[in-house]
Amino acid sequence: MAGNYFPRLIFISVFIFKLLITIVNGADIFLEWNVAINTTVHPFSEEQPVITINGMFPGPLINATTNDVIHVNVFNNIDEPLLFTWNGIEQRLNSWQDGVSGTNCPIQPGKNWTYEFQAKDQIGTFIYFPSINFLKAGGGFGPIRVNNRPVIKIPFPKPEAEFDLLIGDWYLKSYEEIRSLISNNSTANDSSPVKILMNGKGSYFDNDSRVFESFTVTKGKTYWFRISNVGTAWSVNFRIQNHRMVLVETEGSYVNQMALDSLDVHVGQSYSVLVTADQEEQDYYIVAAPKQINATGTSTLIGVAVLRYGNSVIPPRGALPPGPDPFDIQFSVNQAKSIRWNLTAGAARPNPQGSFNVSNVTLSQSFILQSSVVEINGEFRYTINNVSYVTPETPLKLADAFANGGNGVYVLDKFPTNSSNVEAVNGVFVASGIHHGWIELVLKSDLDIIHTWHLDGYSFFVVG
Ligand SMILES: *[C@@H]1O[C@H](CO)[C@@H](O)[C@H](O)[C@H]1NC(C)=O
Ligand SMILES: *[C@@H]1O[C@H](CO)[C@@H](O)[C@H](O)[C@H]1NC(C)=O
Ligand SMILES: *[C@@H]1O[C@H](CO)[C@@H](O)[C@H](O)[C@H]1NC(C)=O
Ligand SMILES: *[C@@H]1O[C@H](CO)[C@@H](O)[C@H](O)[C@H]1NC(C)=O
Ligand SMILES: *[C@@H]1O[C@H](CO)[C@@H](O)[C@H](O)[C@H]1NC(C)=O
Ligand SMILES: *[C@@H]1O[C@H](CO)[C@@H](O)[C@H](O)[C@H]1NC(C)=O
Ligand SMILES: *[C@@H]1O[C@H](CO)[C@@H](O)[C@H](O)[C@H]1NC(C)=O
Ligand SMILES: *[C@@H]1O[C@H](CO)[C@@H](O)[C@H](O)[C@H]1NC(C)=O
Ligand SMILES: *[C@@H]1O[C@H](CO)[C@@H](O)[C@H](O)[C@H]1NC(C)=O
Ligand SMILES: *[C@@H]1O[C@H](CO)[C@@H](O)[C@H](O)[C@H]1NC(C)=O
Ligand SMILES: *[C@@H]1O[C@H](CO)[C@@H](O)[C@H](O)[C@H]1NC(C)=O
Repeated sequence: MAGNYFPRLIFISVFIFKLLITIVNGADIFLEWNVAINTTVHPFSEEQPVITINGMFPGPLINATTNDVIHVNVFNNIDEPLLFTWNGIEQRLNSWQDGVSGTNCPIQPGKNWTYEFQAKDQIGTFIYFPSINFLKAGGGFGPIRVNNRPVIKIPFPKPEAEFDLLIGDWYLKSYEEIRSLISNNSTANDSSPVKILMNGKGSYFDNDSRVFESFTVTKGKTYWFRISNVGTAWSVNFRIQNHRMVLVETEGSYVNQMALDSLDVHVGQSYSVLVTADQEEQDYYIVAAPKQINATGTSTLIGVAVLRYGNSVIPPRGALPPGPDPFDIQFSVNQAKSIRWNLTAGAARPNPQGSFNVSNVTLSQSFILQSSVVEINGEFRYTINNVSYVTPETPLKLADAFANGGNGVYVLDKFPTNSSNVEAVNGVFVASGIHHGWIELVLKSDLDIIHTWHLDGYSFFVVG
């Protein structure tokens, strides 16, 4: 008799154990990606190479839930080294897998390598993209969602559907050509973007565009748009004709909800907005207009997609919805400053996400980081504190792990902490951070463009 019960007990305890593991650690997601150059998916009539993942441009959605572990086996079938970064995913599992120059080795052409990272204690809207050698200008980017665990409610009624919307500037020349132009003269006029894509598609108004993006909605329902700027240079103002949107999340934090007519999205940023289809049943324009650029009317510099009411037979009409003056920097600054964490919204853990208190910290280090363009050895280089970073052949983490002190791969603690009269150089500088210390970074810019920073691997807190 006992023999009948014993196996069942084991089965039940294994089952419970597995259930616990699943709840605490999340699930494993296994993905296999073939990254290749495709010459048929070009968004405009001009032929140009586009970097696709499993034939897709943009790449496939990574749809994860808090604490899931994601395994991406990447096959590099393009003709040069390739490195992916998982922007916004804090790399707590393997800090060196965040895929920026200096931490990982790029995957060599014809080879494959498997990234493993965990969306530990995170929720939100993020993106991945190729992080080296300007490859991002040719594609290879895609959306990442980190959903709430089922036991933790989202801080708004469940929308009818979710849409990922990747917006980015685009060039008609190939990314190789633009890379070479910028490398020879970073201020060359003919190395500027000329289009804006929405999910890899050109504008509704652009005769040169092969296809435009559209989203189908049902009157009365509310939709979740996850918007990211995957471009290389341009900030955009995003707006939908006749519709307001409610901002609910940014960069992995739920925010105090606020209604907006338009939203500025800078390179690398991600936002979630809710849009309710509460207008007459027809089609409406969805606009992404470049900042700092004079694009009027139906200029082909403006990205235009369509919000389509399911039963509508009426195409979008009227002028494009007006936005703020693209040269009004204060609009952008004020909007960003008005965004607040929702300190009572549960997110990754059942306790409120605002459980940090950084009101009184003692700074252990301070860096004033000034970006500019200078000439070094006859070449124009973007610099920070007059240093232009050179990608070393050995990744920094590897040099650190196998030769304490880097063995000449990098220069330790000589990086100028500010830009007071240091001569411009190309170099590999590493600054030590003090463990458990608070580091203050002051970002300054001399450039006449909007300069976006990618602060990788950590989540940062903007204090000023
Ligand atoms: C993403 O995952 C969530 C949670 O498992 C699921 O409910 C949803 O349908 C998935 N969405 C897509 C587009 O796969
Ligand atoms: C390369 O892909 C093969 C086949 O899927 C897999 O078995 C192997 O582990 C991968 N190699 C790396 C380094 O990820
Ligand atoms: C913050 O989140 C809570 C909890 O989900 C929600 O009820 C509340 O409306 C949110 N507050 C704002 C200002 O968005
Ligand atoms: C940029 O400079 C490199 C090296 O001097 C040269 O090979 C390349 O043709 C130049 N590219 C352009 C677009 O001028
Ligand atoms: C770089 O490009 C700018 C703008 O096109 C031009 O004014 C400048 O002369 C160029 N510099 C070099 C060194 O070619
Ligand atoms: C696009 O085509 C339409 C219809 O042929 C024409 O009226 C319009 O001027 C064209 N626009 C551009 C920018 O060429
Ligand atoms: C933008 O273009 C309009 C119309 O051509 C012109 O009146 C205005 O001065 C321009 N603004 C800037 C900042 O270039
Ligand atoms: C944060 O810390 C400060 C200083 O210790 C304290 O005055 C404040 O009440 C704390 N705030 C919260 C939300 O705990
Ligand atoms: C802030 O920190 C300093 C130094 O640790 C301490 O002397 C001071 O009392 C703290 N202030 C508050 C408001 O907690
Ligand atoms: C700038 O760096 C120099 C040299 O390290 C240092 O003496 C000076 O105090 C720094 N200035 C500021 C404002 O941090
Ligand atoms: C940067 O380097 C240039 C060229 O070496 C030099 O003229 C300039 O003074 C330096 N600027 C700063 C802010 O250090």
